[in-house]
Amino acid sequence: MDLKVENGCIKEDKGLGWGKSLPVQSVQEIVRNGYLSVPERYIQEIKDRPSSISSESLQASLQIPIIDFSLLAKGDEHETRKLDLACKEWGFFQIRNHGVQVKILQKMKAAMAAFFELPLMEKKKFAMGANDLEGYGQAYVVSEEQKLDWCDLVALKTLPLEQRNLNFWPLNLPGFKEAVEEYSIEVQKVAEEINANLSILMGMERDGLKRYQGELKQLMRMNYYPPCSSPELVVGVSPHSDGGSLTVLLQDDDIIGLQIKHKGEWIPVKPIPNALVVNIGDAIEIMSNGVYKSIEHRAITNEKKARISAAAFAYVDDELEIGPLDSMVDDPHRPPMYKKIKYIDYIRQVLARKMDGKAHTDLVKIQT
Ligand code: OGA
Ligand code: NI
Repeated sequence: MDLKVENGCIKEDKGLGWGKSLPVQSVQEIVRNGYLSVPERYIQEIKDRPSSISSESLQASLQIPIIDFSLLAKGDEHETRKLDLACKEWGFFQIRNHGVQVKILQKMKAAMAAFFELPLMEKKKFAMGANDLEGYGQAYVVSEEQKLDWCDLVALKTLPLEQRNLNFWPLNLPGFKEAVEEYSIEVQKVAEEINANLSILMGMERDGLKRYQGELKQLMRMNYYPPCSSPELVVGVSPHSDGGSLTVLLQDDDIIGLQIKHKGEWIPVKPIPNALVVNIGDAIEIMSNGVYKSIEHRAITNEKKARISAAAFAYVDDELEIGPLDSMVDDPHRPPMYKKIKYIDYIRQVLARKMDGKAHTDLVKIQT
């Protein structure tokens, strides 16, 4: 356990203990300072460059499920079946009528925009520490050689309220704390309701997942993708699957950036104004014994406009052992497909390596 000196006294380092990321330059700053061509470290290998969106993938984009959350919350059978199918076949869906007021979404977006607008020196006051993934910086930088994402971010532990580390919060930025706090609480309610529905679909009571997972925590990753003069050469965020239980993403209404891997193709997730994007994370894939899928996704950039998104990751306690739920195992028809693993050990494995395009869950798959 690392010790750090704070206000003159030694305190336990309450960092995530999940891993670390090497510090690299701010991409927003590269853009602010002007550049003639995209720096080498951001230029992807040819196989990893985003190709232009085909008409087939645009067509497929229209198939990404859209769920009416208010019906789900009422226990509507048709909507619940839609959720089941969405998690099995897509791992991603959008939700409307989610109950989070538009005003709260707007305040959250404005707060993020205001943060990234700050001068670099201001933002650096909240920079990630050497052994921390919380704070302002870039994620997933594990080697000096790897290609870098065209993205800056700030990651904050948001829930439960007592796990916040306010040293990383720009408390002097008017309205920021209130906006993030309010939004994170609302979005957690959405995640919990989806979990309750998934519990029923997985053959348990409504509180089945809650009992197993305990009170979910939340990490908010706020992404800033600056415009790029050659968007065909870079990626905003490299392909990955999310390591938590569920992710709820708030994105700009008028910019397409997010893409998901479906049947081997990259499919754009076209924003629906004021909707939220939800995806299954690795932990639910493991608990569902592979029935629900944690899908690889990435973000691409564009030439004209910066794009901002907030990914709220709902995740379990570090000490919890995760594995296929009893209700999802049916030996010999459906034996356990994943090894049991303590969550912190899982997440450390995930964060210690730059993903090579495979879903993280391959790390714990039982080879048959
Ligand atoms: C993430 C993520 C996608 C986006 O932060 O994990 O996948 O569109 N973001 O910003
Ligand atoms: Ni993600």
